Amino acid sequence: PTPVIIDCDPGHDDVFALWLAAGNPEVSLLGVTTVAGNGELEHTTTNARIALTVAGVEGVPVAAGADGPLRRKLTPATWIHGDNALGGPVLPAPAVPLDGRTATELTADLLEASAEPVTLIPTGPLTNVALFLEQRPGLRGRIREIIWMGGSTGRGNVGAYAEFNAWSDPEAADLVFRSGLPVTMVGLNISHQALVTEDVIASIAAIGNETSAFGVELLRFFCAAYEVSQGMPDGPLHDPITVAIAIDRAVAEVRRCHVDVETRGEFTAGATAVDLRDMLGKEHNADVAISLDVPRFWRLVRDAVAALR
Ligand code: BDR
Ligand code: CA
Repeated sequence: PTPVIIDCDPGHDDVFALWLAAGNPEVSLLGVTTVAGNGELEHTTTNARIALTVAGVEGVPVAAGADGPLRRKLTPATWIHGDNALGGPVLPAPAVPLDGRTATELTADLLEASAEPVTLIPTGPLTNVALFLEQRPGLRGRIREIIWMGGSTGRGNVGAYAEFNAWSDPEAADLVFRSGLPVTMVGLNISHQALVTEDVIASIAAIGNETSAFGVELLRFFCAAYEVSQGMPDGPLHDPITVAIAIDRAVAEVRRCHVDVETRGEFTAGATAVDLRDMLGKEHNADVAISLDVPRFWRLVRDAVAALR
């Protein structure tokens, strides 16, 4: 299996990314690091531990990272995820412990210990990844690739052009896209293909285990919030697409191109300028996910949930 580390801000869809990685045999979830984004760090960290607890996952360390963006103020996405970043179900106390190391320390230890290079899967603002690259440049070679949920080839979901994870910490995203490491961008243009329809909810409910029951409560809250705040009754389950790509590249079609992150725009801060038509002739620095094999994606999600508790 491909060794992966998930850096996340759970968040309803982040939870499904964790479950997909924990429940699929093609990837090995080495560790989880948390970042402030959908909620304050305290919430996203507790929620990551709860996600693993509910699914019965043991032995995967969870370490907390940055409590806010590199240079900007944190704006938690309460309008989608609620005040605790995981609105909906009654949350159990997490049985999974918090690792004493920082996100950077845990990531460094896992990269050093892994027999092969590790795939980093960030599903929140890129603050932790940017800090890691700055603080541990000697370990870059231990990173196989970065598969990130964020950005968009088109319109945004917090501004006209900015997607939430990119907009939360554009300076961090800019650093990662200029890092020279292999980056895959899973933006809104593809994540809005992963819609949580009533059929999807019914098929997850039909699994009938504890994880699926908790998951259905998450999805119901998430879809209701999407309907109210974005006029989309079938919410898009953005984050697990990253893990699906780590499992099976054929689940998404990608285009290799140049991506810049707007850090200064008066109206566009946090926008990802994706040069799909090669207008600028700049060196290609990312694989940008374009289209999703939707049935295959949901099969992967369902099979993983079914394999958990
Ligand atoms: C991204 O923002 C968060 O609210 C989600 O968890 C996802 O990572 C979508 O814009
Ligand atoms: Ca997220």
